[in-house]
Amino acid sequence: MEKTMDKIVNLCKGRGFVYPGSDIYGGFANTWDYGPLGVELENNIKKAWWKRFVQESENSFGVDAGILMNPTVWDASGHTQNFSDPKMDCKNCKNRFRADNLIEEHSKGKVSAEAMTNEQMEAYIDEHHINCPVCGKHDFTPIRQFKLMFETSRGTIDNAKDVVYLRPETCQGEYVNFLNVARTARAKVPFSIAQIGKSFRNEITPGNFLFRTIEFEQMELQTFCKDSEAIDIYNQNKLNALQFAKDIGLNEKRLRFHDHEKLAHYAKCACDIQYQFPIGWEELNGIHHRGTWDLSRHQEFSGKSMVYTDPITNEKFLPTVVEYSIGVGRLALATLCEAYDEETLENGETRIVMHLNPAIAPYKVAVLPLQKNLNDKAKEVLRMLNKHFMCSYDEAGSIGKRYRRQDEIGTPFCVTIDFDSLEDETVTIRDRDTMEQKRLKIKELVPYIYSKVEF
Ligand code: GAP
Repeated sequence: MEKTMDKIVNLCKGRGFVYPGSDIYGGFANTWDYGPLGVELENNIKKAWWKRFVQESENSFGVDAGILMNPTVWDASGHTQNFSDPKMDCKNCKNRFRADNLIEEHSKGKVSAEAMTNEQMEAYIDEHHINCPVCGKHDFTPIRQFKLMFETSRGTIDNAKDVVYLRPETCQGEYVNFLNVARTARAKVPFSIAQIGKSFRNEITPGNFLFRTIEFEQMELQTFCKDSEAIDIYNQNKLNALQFAKDIGLNEKRLRFHDHEKLAHYAKCACDIQYQFPIGWEELNGIHHRGTWDLSRHQEFSGKSMVYTDPITNEKFLPTVVEYSIGVGRLALATLCEAYDEETLENGETRIVMHLNPAIAPYKVAVLPLQKNLNDKAKEVLRMLNKHFMCSYDEAGSIGKRYRRQDEIGTPFCVTIDFDSLEDETVTIRDRDTMEQKRLKIKELVPYIYSKVEF
């Protein structure tokens, strides 16, 4: 079975995971709207991440900072000066490309442009006669840096507008609140601040469905520690991030570490976890040892001390930050790619089945009355189950067709109500993956399903 991005996109659009943004207006490039199934999938992924990295982690606290921040935040973070990509325009067809992507795509991932200067990239593109992927001509403008932050303006009167930025990452909201959290949560270093929220980037080459979009959600965890502890925390973060990716349902065979060759000047080390998407090995998440850069810059630009005082030793220091950052949509895409399967059944038919981890599956259970005159009993079972789980209810078509519909959207359990259910208060429960069926008492359903869908 060939697993292509087209198949995943078609299933997502057709079944209500994801729709093109502003669809009735012909769409709006590289924006996507999550439908009824997509929003459940995303919420379940965020819940699982929060449980792992906030609820079950000692000394970890959540925040939800504003998308719009004081613009000086972005001077301090370096974004207003440096957050840009090397762009080239094709003079013939006027399309715009990232020079580093042109090189990496041309060499089929064998050459990394990560450590190249703009001059080296231009020379490489000329020497290897890399052509425009759209019109095939080799006639590019010189490389120029393209700013990635979206600007908007704030002002109560039209002629007094101040530029403000849509945040390109969530972590600055965690840095600026470092001392607030330390004080109010009585948090002692090392401790972490987590946040889940929207970020915006004016990407030159967005694409590949949810992989790179201009608006996306990030789940970011910043650990504030002594510099001497940072390497151990960084290494532990790599393992924790890998374990989370596996636990959410990604196969270990399709996950690998990729250490960065080119580091930001303040970073001691940085590593991505890559996933083998149908488009190839690509970054899933990042883990960064950021030194004291973030807090020292905010201290310098705000004029407020960001120094932490150890309550026991009275030692005063600026903490080092270790970061773990992952995109919700990118992770959702990886889980969808991993889960997609086409199976040939014993009777020769094929079924499309999404083997999603039950903890993140949009619906946990579908309630299916065998015949319409069993609806009352089925609705009674539905009302019992939907107090606990997201449920689907389907009374249309043959039972086989109804199973297929649930397989395609990854529902781990189907509960069928038949005439025996009226007599003995039992139902048939069918497992999505094994297709095995067994009888259970109605009153056993809730604890049974809980035991299978917990993260
Ligand atoms: N605070 C650090 C930071 O933002 P990053 O490597 O630029 O680091 C972290 O982004 C993660 O956010 C990526 O690994 C990816 O999962 C996700 N991400 C970044 N840009 C994205 C985009 N344009 N569309 C979707 N997800 C994106």
